[in-house]
Amino acid sequence: MDKFRIEGGFALKGEIAIGGSKNAALPLLAASLLADGETIIENIPGLNDILTFNNVMRVTGSRIDYDPESHRISIDPANLYYHEAPYDLVRKMRASFYMLGALLGRDGKARVSLPGGCAWGPRPVDLHLEGLRAFGAQIDLDQGYVVASAPENGLPGGTFSLKPSSVGATVNLLLAAARCAGSCTIRNAAKEPDVVQLCLFLEKMGAKIEGIGTSTLVIKGVDELKPVTFRNTSDRIEAGTYMILGAMHPDSDLTLTNVSTDELGQFPAWFHKTGAQSQSDAGRMRIISPAEIAPVSVITEIYPGFPTDLQAQWATLMTRAAGESHITDTIYPDRFSYVPELARLGADVYVKNNSAVIKGGRPLTGTSVMSTDLRASVSLVMAAMYARGTSDVLRVYHLDRGYEKLEEKLNQAGARITRVREN
Ligand code: EPZ
Repeated sequence: MDKFRIEGGFALKGEIAIGGSKNAALPLLAASLLADGETIIENIPGLNDILTFNNVMRVTGSRIDYDPESHRISIDPANLYYHEAPYDLVRKMRASFYMLGALLGRDGKARVSLPGGCAWGPRPVDLHLEGLRAFGAQIDLDQGYVVASAPENGLPGGTFSLKPSSVGATVNLLLAAARCAGSCTIRNAAKEPDVVQLCLFLEKMGAKIEGIGTSTLVIKGVDELKPVTFRNTSDRIEAGTYMILGAMHPDSDLTLTNVSTDELGQFPAWFHKTGAQSQSDAGRMRIISPAEIAPVSVITEIYPGFPTDLQAQWATLMTRAAGESHITDTIYPDRFSYVPELARLGADVYVKNNSAVIKGGRPLTGTSVMSTDLRASVSLVMAAMYARGTSDVLRVYHLDRGYEKLEEKLNQAGARITRVREN
């Protein structure tokens, strides 16, 4: 398992390009299975999660050609014959569960492994299953698998309210509903850009969806969808991560390119409360780091609120703030596995009553720390980049799931990160 050896203290200067969105790409890949013929999607990031999902699709008999260098994928499910997603792949990457909606929506049958939990606790799928039942699917559980089927002429349709709003459940329900026999309504649907992009993709394939971008989606089923060419959006979480990095050292002068600024929701407003500034123009964003970082407490919310996927990175920024701040995650209340590791670097941070309490201003000192999940890992890399001395961040395979060429992007801007390959 590889680790990063990081020398701390170097400002970031120059440009970093933001890649294609991981969490927008995965639903698009699943949706491609709904139409025979070649679908081409550009700007698919070269990430392990994408490679895993490609393997899940290949298991069905679909043809997948992906070039991580050009970020272009070609998918043709014409020869799809096997309607299963096996445990040994689904357990690696939760979003493989999207195969349930895709296979059910395409051919009225699916057998998909229940996804496991993750580093910070259970990740239920009850809303996915109840929603599909509400649309008329037969859903049974069999030895850790979900076995789903639809009536001969397709799902009859229905209405389902998501409580709480769920990105994954909204995705699965959209995939199953696109070719239903009637009309499906999703109330309290997720409004994340990842869902909007999926709706636009399905519409281009010929789906009929009302309410795109709102919390009520009405899908009128169509008999057939057609393959399309589509460009995936830019990764808003990668962009937010690099925005925070650009604010961590007073001498940094970082410009981000290929930023989908209209998909960042309220995050820039929170970012500016720290004293950091950003100047955006046509996808380019210059970050102006503050001489002193103000402590800013945040509570995560569904889009367009503060994203749960940026709260670990925020905690690292707050270790450099001039005062105390609190982070509460309303989406995943226990998503604080990074806290003990930040403390090992010398941060004054602890969890109390489901909130992280950070007393900023104490300089961090390099040491070895352990990655536990994707966003926790990057928060540790960020902390090590501004700790005194050298740090080792272990198990960076977590990072490779969601940040393309992280060390290359940061080193060309002035960071000192070496990937140490360990058996
Ligand atoms: C997506 O996960 C993202 N993953 C996550 O990003 C992100 O943190 C999350 O949305 C929230 O924004 C992908 O897009 C691949 P949810 P998802 O269903 O769909 C509860 C990353 O780092 N819930 O919106 O699994 C759930 O427990 C990853 O890139 C149910 O109760 O999240 C949570 O509290 C991590 N029952 C809340 O809803 C269900 O059936 C939101 O979860 C489903 C969800």
